[in-house]
Amino acid sequence: MSTHKKKRFTDRVVLITGASTGIGLAAARAFAQEGAQLVIASRNADRLRQAAEGFSTDVLGVSCDVSKRSEVDALIEQAVARFGRIDILVNNAAVGILGPLDVVQPADAVALFATNFFGVFHCCQAVLPQMKRQGGGQIINIASLAGLRGIPNAIYSASKAAVISLSETLRLETKSHQITVTVLCPGRVRDSDTTFFETAKKYGPVELCKSPALLTADEVTRVLLNAAAKHKRLVVFPFHAWLLYVINRIAPRVADALVYRQMPQSREH
Ligand SMILES: NC(=O)c1ccc[n+]([C@@H]2O[C@H](COP(=O)([O-])OP(=O)(O)OC[C@H]3O[C@@H](n4cnc5c(N)ncnc54)[C@H](OP(=O)(O)O)[C@@H]3O)[C@@H](O)[C@H]2O)c1
Repeated sequence: MSTHKKKRFTDRVVLITGASTGIGLAAARAFAQEGAQLVIASRNADRLRQAAEGFSTDVLGVSCDVSKRSEVDALIEQAVARFGRIDILVNNAAVGILGPLDVVQPADAVALFATNFFGVFHCCQAVLPQMKRQGGGQIINIASLAGLRGIPNAIYSASKAAVISLSETLRLETKSHQITVTVLCPGRVRDSDTTFFETAKKYGPVELCKSPALLTADEVTRVLLNAAAKHKRLVVFPFHAWLLYVINRIAPRVADALVYRQMPQSREH
């Protein structure tokens, strides 16, 4: 039996936002290993340069704040100028804020939506003309279990719910253009694999609900590439996340109780 693994993304042009750390960086590496040509984007130019240096293949790193439409337009232009097309857009860039609703400052909530929701909106809107011109494409939106089931101390949940809803709209609008839309809803990833929770602690050392099991960035990446290869619609994982999603649909009060039980005692008020 051959040990040579088939490369599923040979010469596909993949653009990943928020690819300087965490899931985005792990995904970029995995796509590169499977033959993709990569465009990686994030705000911090130094971190992005460092990330781009770690690839053996040709990678275009573009410093871009996805909350700013002009920067997103420039990102898409540079990607097309270099590679001629964009086959897969992975909307991965996002930030978190940990804190109860009555504490989070309105300006911080607006800034969170500017990245987590409007970043996805800008990237989708900017890439659509190119994908229509080239006759198709794939958009993969990284949402979260927290977007399917609101959790305490995370206005972030609402931003990811908006991403999931936007994805449904987009899927139907782009169907006739051979553009597929995938939504990935991972459960929580372990802290050591991501900068997410470190940057989310603006309001002090707030803890999220406990998670029965934590994912690694590599596990998320494996699911992401499989979903991309199979043009999946919605993927909720791991199993406990999927179970909560299903329970929330059929018995929301039970889901409330389950989530409430996972809240750290210090967060109850
Ligand atoms: N960590 C989890 O437990 C978890 C669970 C479910 C879903 N997710 C989702 O998975 C995705 C990746 O998260 P992660 O855990 O890998 O987080 P991470 O390590 O903090 O990575 C976030 C990335 O996004 C970039 N970014 C943030 N704001 C940006 C902006 N305005 N414009 C462009 N880039 C921006 C960051 O780089 P710069 O700061 O340099 O811009 C960084 O590269 C996110 O969509 C997150 O919501 C995470």
